Amino acid sequence: MSGEISLEVLVTPADRRAALERDVRVGLGAGDKVLPPVWFYDETGSRLFDEITRLPEYYPTRTEAGILRAHAADMVAASGADVLVELGSGTSEKTRLLLDAMTAAGSLRQVVLLDISEEVLVEGAAALRERYGVDVHAVVGDFRLHLEALAKGERRLWAFLGSTIGNFRPDERRRLLGELAGAMADDDHLLLGTDLVKEPERLVAAYDDERGVTAAFNRNVLAVLNRELGGDLVPERFVHRAVWDPVAEWIEMRLRSTACQVARLDRLGLEVAFEEGEEILTETSAKFRPAGVVAELATAGLREEVAWSDPDGDFRLGLSRRGSHAA
Ligand code: SAH
Ligand code: TRP
Repeated sequence: MSGEISLEVLVTPADRRAALERDVRVGLGAGDKVLPPVWFYDETGSRLFDEITRLPEYYPTRTEAGILRAHAADMVAASGADVLVELGSGTSEKTRLLLDAMTAAGSLRQVVLLDISEEVLVEGAAALRERYGVDVHAVVGDFRLHLEALAKGERRLWAFLGSTIGNFRPDERRRLLGELAGAMADDDHLLLGTDLVKEPERLVAAYDDERGVTAAFNRNVLAVLNRELGGDLVPERFVHRAVWDPVAEWIEMRLRSTACQVARLDRLGLEVAFEEGEEILTETSAKFRPAGVVAELATAGLREEVAWSDPDGDFRLGLSRRGSHAA
């Protein structure tokens, strides 16, 4: 076995820059300040996220890994897949649990990884090729735009792990899941990881850890703006906040300005004024209830066939395919 890596770049640096400029103009230009989470993941951000996944407070990664360890063989058997497609694969560590099971089943033919962050994507792809001797197609792309651009195939297992789906608002989730359903073939399966509603204390701690790694991750988006847009934002003048919204059932990640200040973004010719205490909403992380996940999938034209959880009911992985719920 050898295997090859092919790299496809669907987001060029110029596209990236243009999208960032648009998001910043819209998000910081007026009214309530907001930035989409995709800008967290430059190389530093991806490293910090990797550190987050190992924090004692951040239970989702190890819980999801535990479910995969216990049930990957069943997931792979139920999917019948010989190609794994992963969206937002990052370092591709949990991916190995699925690939171990596909290898054991003798069914592993190809891996397709899609991520916006080229550095971790390429490293992850190389590690998987080396370990499994399999063909790895690595796509630098945005899963909000590029699902249709992934080559078609039959009997694929699409993995969307880490509760990344929760980083989208309900309307964006509906669009994304709809597009995913449209990109899937009838025999494909989707393995969707969702973090479940639980005690607010545990949720908040997972997004506001003792060591301040999540705070550094959140503030890193300011460094991205400074570098890419010629900005002079001072990260030390913003503090990290994680707030549980019990009605929307999501965590909001915010950066609060500790002073009345004005920042310049030279490339945009934009001045952004902050009141003392004013906040930028940098991310939401929705927490789910099983019935809600099933309903959202159904709206997208996906039928959940089976789901797995950890003994404490903290996290959930569901396997779906195209089709309506009328059984
Ligand atoms: N799947 C991994 C990583 C989750 S972090 C895990 O479960 O631990 C989210 C990942 O999605 C990051 O690797 C980030 O670079 C990527 N990402 C975020 N927004 C994206 C987008 N719009 N399109 C493609 N990848 C994106
Ligand atoms: N999908 C992850 C989550 O919502 C992403 C994440 C974890 C994250 N910790 C974060 C995003 C802190 C921003 C800030 O759990």
